[in-house]
Amino acid sequence: MNRLCLISGRSHRQLAKSVAQKLGKRLTPVEIKNFANGEIYVRIGRKVRGEDVFVIESMVEPVNENLMETLILVDALRRASVGKINLICPFLAYCRQDRKAVSREPITAKLVANLLTAAGVNRLVTIDLHADQIQGFYDIPLDHFVGYPQFAKYIKARRWRRVVVAAPDVGGVKRANKLADLLGVRLVIIDKVRREHNKAQVAHVVGEIRDKTVVILDDIVDTGGSVVEAAAVFKKRGAKRVIVAASHALLSGNARERLAASQVDEFVFLDTVPGLKEKRMIKKTKVLSIGPLLAKVIDRIHREKSLGELFVWEKKVRVL
Ligand code: R5P
Repeated sequence: MNRLCLISGRSHRQLAKSVAQKLGKRLTPVEIKNFANGEIYVRIGRKVRGEDVFVIESMVEPVNENLMETLILVDALRRASVGKINLICPFLAYCRQDRKAVSREPITAKLVANLLTAAGVNRLVTIDLHADQIQGFYDIPLDHFVGYPQFAKYIKARRWRRVVVAAPDVGGVKRANKLADLLGVRLVIIDKVRREHNKAQVAHVVGEIRDKTVVILDDIVDTGGSVVEAAAVFKKRGAKRVIVAASHALLSGNARERLAASQVDEFVFLDTVPGLKEKRMIKKTKVLSIGPLLAKVIDRIHREKSLGELFVWEKKVRVL
């Protein structure tokens, strides 16, 4: 078996360190810096010929810098004659543009797939893609893990009564339905409209929310607009409690202040984005770590063992 080599980019060292610790491995030293004009320089700190490499990079802010860094890091590894390059990318950016919604738009989710593959990525592991179908943009193995089983465990432990799960838009219905299935509760659907980018409005709510604990499940909280607006509507219509469970807390711009001032009672996020546990983060937040899961995934991929056992949710929910 080829030697396992763990490499962290600069985007989420905290997560990379926790994964390395769980695996009982050291991160391979890498020099990464910027030239005066902003271009990125990478050098792998030791010989890695023939090794089974796992690169941990999350495409968080600054998104374009982290995407470019990933490509350059992968290029350096390929030219250093490694065995396989496995990219562990908890948050894969640009996935929201996965089709042409109007004419003359790009499809950035496919462009990123092309770039990663051309650079030399042999396998991609990611969490909660914006849409499952993005898997088809890749012609390399892609292991897609989801956050809702972790959210289900957390919600069950809180023992809230009269829970319903809300899909924040029509695109999120499948995901929300799976969480509702795991919890054995009813589904609520929000009909969300966007008159312009980054501005969401609730048009209609389908389902019963009065006196309920409403769990809004989303893949991304970016500006926070969608969940803040939904929470206000739910509270106005008599919801007892509003919880937001989301995998990727991007929290761009003034999202932190916006969420802190919102009518949401509690946020539950995964740590696919760094810095959530630091004091800048709003108080009413619980962060669940994906580090232990990623460590298991890396170990199994390296030992060429099936990942099937880790897809626990598939045994419990109906496939839509
Ligand atoms: C949209 O389709 C996504 O699933 C999220 O609902 C959206 O990206 C959240 O954005 P924001 O927090 O800016 O409303």
